[in-house]
Amino acid sequence: MSANARQRQLTAVDVQARKGGAPLVCLTAYTTPVARLADAECDVVLVGDSVGMVLHGLPSTLGVTMDMMILHGQAVARGLDRALMVIDMPFGSYEESPEQAFRNAARLMRETGAGAVKLEGGAAMADTIRFLTARSIPVMAHVGLTPQAINTLGGYKVQGRGADADRVLTDAQAVAEAGAFSVVLEKVPAALADRITETVAIPTIGIGASAGCDGQVLVIDDMLGLFTDFQPKFAKRYAELGQGAQAAIAAYAEEVRARRFPAAEHVFGDAT
Ligand code: KIV
Repeated sequence: MSANARQRQLTAVDVQARKGGAPLVCLTAYTTPVARLADAECDVVLVGDSVGMVLHGLPSTLGVTMDMMILHGQAVARGLDRALMVIDMPFGSYEESPEQAFRNAARLMRETGAGAVKLEGGAAMADTIRFLTARSIPVMAHVGLTPQAINTLGGYKVQGRGADADRVLTDAQAVAEAGAFSVVLEKVPAALADRITETVAIPTIGIGASAGCDGQVLVIDDMLGLFTDFQPKFAKRYAELGQGAQAAIAAYAEEVRARRFPAAEHVFGDAT
């Protein structure tokens, strides 16, 4: 293969085929430069509706719109060569009917080039997932803690503890049987995540779930230490870029105030 030959972009079919294989590496991204960084290492890049909280300062994901998802989706698509791009369906864009979900999913894919959509919900969304997959829209499902439902769940609580485990398992089975190509398990006990992973035929992607899942996903701003409003237990920090950026901004401000920036090498003479 020549050095500049294009790599084939992964599809939902490739991702589904990874069930029980090498763990799937997934991260969110919302911009072109970050998508480029993620593409080098990830199998799946998710344009998550977490964009509303980490980039737009919204208090939850509920205020995220189709237009926001499309703008960020287009930016991410420009940064990807290999990873499958999955885009979140925002709150209110799919729950009303399978037809509404199809219209908005098709728009997200057509206008961004995403290879799949993600939507939240288990058994209640099975008919919608069946409708979409029968019409050429690959769906990543999302069960356990579904942040768009915080008002009915009563907050960002662990889901599926004790007697509630069967509900989450049933949700995962329902979305798998409806045709989802993978399912995100968010904030569920590790033993339950392992049980679901053993039971369902599609890859499970954990976030606050278990190392036994078929893959893992994190919000990129969490793992880079850029989003510091709060830190969920599951959001391991692999870097503290927020602190580094704050120190850089402070150094710049100090140099401007002291007239040490710009220095001779940053300004122009007649010739250079
Ligand atoms: O919006 C998002 O980033 C997500 C991940 C946390 C799975 O849904």
